[in-house]
Parts: sequence; structure tokens; C-alpha cells
Amino acid sequence: MPYTPAENRYDVMQYRRCGNSGVMLPLLSLGLWHNFGGITPFSTQQAMLRTAFDHGITHFDLANNYGPPYGEAERNFGRHMEADWKPHRDELFLSTKAGYDMWPGPYGDHGSRKYLIASLDQSLKRMHVDYVDLFYHHRPDPDTPMEETAGALDQIVRSGKALYVGISNYQPEQAKKMIGLLRGLGTPCLIEQPSYSMLNRWIEGGLTDVLRTEQVGCICFAPLQNGLLTGKYLQGIPTDSRAARDPRYLKADRISEETMAKVRKLQPIAEARGQKLSQMALAWVLRDPVVTSALIGASRPEQVRENVAAVQNLSFAPEELEAIEQALR
Ligand SMILES: NC(=O)c1ccc[n+]([C@@H]2O[C@H](COP(=O)([O-])OP(=O)(O)OC[C@H]3O[C@@H](n4cnc5c(N)ncnc54)[C@H](OP(=O)(O)O)[C@@H]3O)[C@@H](O)[C@H]2O)c1
Repeated sequence: MPYTPAENRYDVMQYRRCGNSGVMLPLLSLGLWHNFGGITPFSTQQAMLRTAFDHGITHFDLANNYGPPYGEAERNFGRHMEADWKPHRDELFLSTKAGYDMWPGPYGDHGSRKYLIASLDQSLKRMHVDYVDLFYHHRPDPDTPMEETAGALDQIVRSGKALYVGISNYQPEQAKKMIGLLRGLGTPCLIEQPSYSMLNRWIEGGLTDVLRTEQVGCICFAPLQNGLLTGKYLQGIPTDSRAARDPRYLKADRISEETMAKVRKLQPIAEARGQKLSQMALAWVLRDPVVTSALIGASRPEQVRENVAAVQNLSFAPEELEAIEQALR
């Protein structure tokens, strides 16, 4: 069936400006790390992408090595592009990344000009697009001079293969340096993509201060802590959950009693707000306006729908924030 997007798609979502750029991002964005590789049926992937866009999620986030196998999420996205998205390309904000291992040998990893430029060329072919809206250096590389990585990102924008560039997993001092280098080259850093959730608060203070001062956007990945903050693991590991289906990235030992005790204390706070715990967890990462967007994953369209409803209640009373602090102690 040809896809006709929901007419009211822009009424549902809210959008925030990304740093001091011209770009607005949806409060929720969809990542294709899991469930868009070779295991998940094409029709399920299609339903998730369509559901997201129908609810105003205009930003899809990929990386060269999302799969499995590596490259498969981009390859599948290329098929979705042909099936659904070509007529809507200008309504989409697409990102991809390079920085982790992608192909064998010395040129398929880290932060060299050689790797980043070759990788993006491959990504564009797999995704069936002429350009991406945003290209990231996926992680800092201590062995490549930052000037070289910055130069490659600048070259990528000037060549028209990406409209903007960003960084991911950079620590505050590294981010500050890269933001300065890119600004000096005339290609401002649009955004940083760090991990952040109620159970993982490393960005608070250090990185968020840098991004606020530098007026750079921030998109937080894994705001549900890979599903732990949905409450789904409180009674053990459900067979249809990530921890059961793909324990490479969510090992059973991360579902500790200590963590579950926190999740258990958070649940009544969410209920009192009239929200699911997952919805409160999303609203919570968005409480600081320095956070432009929360980058979720999903394994089925119902999860996208449920998560989008988080935007209906984003404000927190001081007592609620204090109760959350107590629960997380
Ligand atoms: N830059 C980086 O280094 C980096 C690293 C990691 C991720 N990312 C990006 O961040 C994105 C999100 O990461 P993530 O998938 O770990 O994020 P997440 O949102 O913390 O977890 C998503 C998972 O939680 C479960 N879930 C989501 N909504 C749910 C709901 N309403 N009810 C019950 N379960 C629900 C689903 O897993 P199950 O249903 O399978 O249990 C889903 O796949 C990635 O796709 C990627 O784009 C970037």
C-alpha cells in the first residue's frame, strides 16, 4: 500500500531549536540501532517508521554499523526510502555516523579523514540518499589529531554530503575543543549526542554546561536506559524484550536488584502524574531546555505511539522532581 502520512502529524509533536542553529528537532526522535537490521521483518520496521512520522517524529538516526550485520539498518533504510520516503525527503532530518569499527583493516575505524569520508560515501549509497542532514563523529578518537577529524567534518559539509555535523560520546573538554575547532573552520557543530537517562546522569553539570555556553544542541540517546525505565523487567526478563532477544547490549547483570529497586520507587510517581514510567522518563530528560530531543528506540509501533504521548505532560512540580531524586538515591 502506498504510504499517505497522517494529515495532523505536526499537531501532535512539539519541536525545539537545536542550539543556536536554524534547525528545529522533534522532542522525540527515532533511532535505528536495534530492530532495523536483518532480524526484524521489513513490515515491522515500516510500521515503526510510518507511525513515528505520523506523530511528527521527523528525525531518524542511523550509523554506519547499525544492523546486524553492520550496514544493514542503512541498507534497509534505503529500501524504506524507495518505498515510502522519497516524496517526503524534505520533511525528514536524517543522520548517520562513523567512528566505531565498520570494516577490517586500519581505515575502517576511529576518526581519520580517510575513514570518515569513505564511510559517509558508503552510507549515502546504502541509504539511497544524495546527502544526510547530519553526520556525526560517533566517538572521540584519542589517537587522531582533533584537527584532522574536524577538517574531515568541515570537508563533508562543504562537499554537500551532509548539511550539518555533530559529535557523539565526547566528554566535556573534548566537546569544547571540537566545537571550537569546527567554529574556527566555519562549520559549526550542530549537536552532541550523549547517553542520558534517569539511571545515567553523567552529562549533568559538565557536558550540559559546555553545550549551554556554546549554544550547541543535545540529543540524548537511550533515555529509557535500553528499556529498563519502562518497568518491563520488574518481574524478570520477558521473552520478547531486548534483554532476551539481543543480550549483546543489555546483559542480564545490568538488570540488578539495586536498579530495579529504583525503578519500583519511580513507578508510583509516574502514576500520580497520570503517565507510564516510560513517559515520565522521557519527560524527565527533556526538563532541561539544553536537551533538544530524546532519542528513543522501539521494537514495535505501539511503543512509538505510547512514547509520543509523553509530550502531553512535560512539566514537573518541584515536589515531583524531589521525589524522583529520592527514588534515584
Ligand atoms: N551515539 C551512540 O553511541 C549511541 C549508542 C546507543 C544508542 N544510540 C542511539 O539511540 C537510539 C536509542 O537507543 P535505545 O534503543 O537503547 O533507547 P531506549 O529508548 O533507551 O530503549 C529502547 C528500547 O526500549 C524498549 N521500549 C521502548 N519503548 C517502550 C515502551 N513504551 N514500552 C516498553 N518497552 C519499550 C524497546 O525494547 P524491547 O521492546 O526490545 O525490550 C526499545 O527498543 C538508538 O537507536 C541509536 O539511534 C546512539
